[in-house]
Amino acid sequence: MKSDMQRFIEHLPKAELHMHIEGSLEPELKFRLAERNGLELPYEDVSAMRRAYQFDDLPSFLAVYYEGMSVLLEEEDFYDLALAYLRKTASQNVVYAEFFFDPQAHTSRGVSFDTVIGGIRRAQVDGEREYGIRTNLIMCFLRDMTAESAMETLEIALPYKDLILGVGLDSDERNNPPLKFREVFERAGSEGFLLTMHCDVDQQDSVSHLWQCMNEISVNRIDHGVNSLEDERLCDEIIARDLGLTVCPISNGYVAGGLKSAEITAMLEKGMKVTINSDDPAYFPGYMNENLTAVQEEAALSKDQVLQLVRNGFSASWLPAEDKERYLRRVTESWQSNTDTREQADEK
Ligand code: HPA
Ligand code: ZN
Repeated sequence: MKSDMQRFIEHLPKAELHMHIEGSLEPELKFRLAERNGLELPYEDVSAMRRAYQFDDLPSFLAVYYEGMSVLLEEEDFYDLALAYLRKTASQNVVYAEFFFDPQAHTSRGVSFDTVIGGIRRAQVDGEREYGIRTNLIMCFLRDMTAESAMETLEIALPYKDLILGVGLDSDERNNPPLKFREVFERAGSEGFLLTMHCDVDQQDSVSHLWQCMNEISVNRIDHGVNSLEDERLCDEIIARDLGLTVCPISNGYVAGGLKSAEITAMLEKGMKVTINSDDPAYFPGYMNENLTAVQEEAALSKDQVLQLVRNGFSASWLPAEDKERYLRRVTESWQSNTDTREQADEK
């Protein structure tokens, strides 16, 4: 039976700010797309595929993640991928999402930028109409590719500027510091994109990479960023700039040895704008509700703390201020109606 806390989490309207659309490719869909595209996968069935998902750090995860993308070839494939995520996450009461896509992982295989964004865009429109979920796109550069390749990708994306809210940086952080992309992000900022970057958990030079994000790139948000807790001054600066941090507990459990729920609690207690997200839900199994529940259980968070995490999702989003307020009011109303219903039930 579901606990009162689980129902509370499920019932709240939520925002997701850190999810890679390619990381939502579930094995069943991967098989279906492979068949449609006449490709043979090296697995007998879905459970064999899941068994092959062996990773315990970022590079070993990334190898499986990129390999999985081979089935994404046509516009329809990107449409099906994105619509499946929107259907699933909307079923968990996620009402707003800012999600990543990795164009270089496709253009490097001969799939055009237009094919990728065309399919995703169509899914965004249909997802909003069918499931009522509003979304925005963040284009990530792959940090283990060159800065020149990132700049070329930015230029290819310029005609689609109105469809992309911000740019980010993902893939293997080792020896690929934020500074490597300073010019690309400067250009992106001057073109009107909002800026974020992955500061993955427990990386070599994590803290100095975080400082680079702040001082050299002037990011508008930080993806992951758990290691900021190692530097008091850095935490103060993140708070002073009111920057959101998009933390991904189940992902952390796979690639960083634990959910980092103690760190999430510490961030909440410091007043940092920490949010909970699913990262790559098909590989680190769990969407929003499972991520919130995992942290709540491990850290024994109160409802007020869960509510704060959910509120942070909207206030750290890149929505216009009046829209944030509207969503935050919906959260409060949902919390109140939930409380009223429970009180009535208790009285009976
Ligand atoms: N970190 C870096 N690169 C990624 C991730 C992540 O969490 N997910 C997909 N690509
Ligand atoms: Zn990520």
